[in-house]
Amino acid sequence: MKKAGIFITLEGIDGTGKSTQHRLLAQYLRKLGHKVRATREPGGTLVGEQIRDILLASKTRKLAPMTELLLMYSARAQHLEEAVRPALARGEIVVSDRFSDASMAYQGFGRQLGAQIVRAIDQVVCGKTKPDLTLVLDLSPRLALKRAQRREVRQNSKHGRFEVQGLAFHNRVRRGYLAIARSEPGRVKLIDANQTVAEVQEEIRRQVNRFLVRQEKRMANGKL
Ligand code: TYD
Repeated sequence: MKKAGIFITLEGIDGTGKSTQHRLLAQYLRKLGHKVRATREPGGTLVGEQIRDILLASKTRKLAPMTELLLMYSARAQHLEEAVRPALARGEIVVSDRFSDASMAYQGFGRQLGAQIVRAIDQVVCGKTKPDLTLVLDLSPRLALKRAQRREVRQNSKHGRFEVQGLAFHNRVRRGYLAIARSEPGRVKLIDANQTVAEVQEEIRRQVNRFLVRQEKRMANGKL
């Protein structure tokens, strides 16, 4: 029987510590002996990283919400074709720092394009490719923004296009993530990000291990 890959995504508003957790999760899964493809969005491919530069550069001032959404999905189309689907076909675990739920939360809710438009485009670009497990790092936007700003001072970097959006925008994005988690409780797990890095990682590993055990059982029962 062909071994199916597993698609895990990490999500959350800016400043939740997602990228650190993403790196630690990939390391952990490799230590367990899994073949892991760690990747991120927007980006994950050469073309995708170029699109990312356009999307995140503060000099890109005039970007209509629809343009932003379509650029996210252009990067995603390339990412799926070049990285995600081939890795899944090889039976690997793909761990992506953001995926489609980010477009629903940021463009659908944050930019207020609405869920229907995002869902329609998602259907065209992603089709049946959906994450098997999504971990949403949840944190109040007030705390998250403080963290994101501290990081930028530390790294001496300028504010990106999303970081300058302020509290109202990030509140909407968070509501988007919470709505997604409510509507798909099987796939989407909320993780309290207001804990230490080690504690958050522990919770993530618990969710991932629970998923892997269930997956093994389904494979053994011939359901996959
Ligand atoms: P992120 O990788 O979290 O940036 P960094 O690692 O520099 O903190 O994400 C980049 C930004 O892109 C983030 O603010 C969320 C945004 N984004 C969307 O608005 N829609 C999307 O579909 C994706 C994938 C990201």
